[in-house]
Amino acid sequence: MAPTQLWLLLVWAAEVWAARPRTELLNVCMNARHHKEKPGREDKLHEQCSPWKKNACCSVNTSLEAHRDVSLLYNFNWDHCGPMAPACKRHFIQDTCLYECSPNLGPWIQEVNQSWRKERILNVPLCKEDCESWWEDCRTSSTCKSNWHKGWNWTSGINECPVKNACHRFDFYFPTPAALCNEIWSHSFKVSNYSRGSGRCIQMWFDPAQGNPNEEVARFYAEAMMNGAELHGAWSLLLGLALLLLLS
Ligand SMILES: *[C@@H]1O[C@H](CO)[C@@H](O)[C@H](O)[C@H]1NC(C)=O
Ligand SMILES: *[C@@H]1O[C@H](CO)[C@@H](O)[C@H](O)[C@H]1NC(C)=O
Ligand SMILES: *[C@@H]1O[C@H](CO)[C@@H](O)[C@H](O)[C@H]1NC(C)=O
Ligand SMILES: *[C@@H]1O[C@H](CO)[C@@H](O)[C@H](O)[C@H]1NC(C)=O
Repeated sequence: MAPTQLWLLLVWAAEVWAARPRTELLNVCMNARHHKEKPGREDKLHEQCSPWKKNACCSVNTSLEAHRDVSLLYNFNWDHCGPMAPACKRHFIQDTCLYECSPNLGPWIQEVNQSWRKERILNVPLCKEDCESWWEDCRTSSTCKSNWHKGWNWTSGINECPVKNACHRFDFYFPTPAALCNEIWSHSFKVSNYSRGSGRCIQMWFDPAQGNPNEEVARFYAEAMMNGAELHGAWSLLLGLALLLLLS
């Protein structure tokens, strides 16, 4: 084989290798504002975050903050259009606990170029019942936006509605459960068609006495993704070798 061909082969192999997704998909914490570097035991996790205490990406402090109305985590005010109903707020607290504490979101972690975090989650398949009850319990509370990541007036240091956005009931800005779960955090979630207990969707709520059901879900999707990536890599390599043979 001529040196140029060997060089081409090496470049090709390097490209195929680099195109592989993040290799560690299981039992990982994302690189974001408050996450621990690695998951581990946290015996004192607060109330709604306590299901993750055997293995968590959040610290005790983060779990406490997650329960405050304007938490120091993000200075985010749930009550931006008057008080949010407690039945609604508990879903937002649970969502915060899942985001901050779960070590099972690896398959959906993506790199981002944001000032406040290096990684985010994208299209996490949230179990449909968890999304439906979130929407149902929040219908009658009020908000002024359908994407809560962007477009707030932060001049006071806490999110306020921009003057052009009027407060309306949740079901005005989020006509369906999917609109709520998918849009609110810029597609961090993608509501699944699977049900709680199926092993194919992420549960925001679970009873830790039965273990954490999301471990199995992460394993399932990680395996599917790795198989896809390996198949793609194998085909690329084969194609590269075939081309090289043709050229030589
Ligand atoms: C708890 O977390 C908040 C927000 O990150 C931080 O401002 C505060 O200092 C922390 N408190 C302790 C005791 O670590
Ligand atoms: C990330 O943002 C910084 C500053 O805004 C910019 O210099 C850099 O090129 C960006 N990187 C990517 C990969 O977009
Ligand atoms: C932002 O909020 C401040 C008060 O906190 C207000 O004076 C200003 O007009 C608001 N700007 C917009 C664009 O809503
Ligand atoms: C969702 O699941 C239901 C019942 O399992 C099925 O009838 C329906 O076709 C599915 N919808 C989609 C979009 O996959």
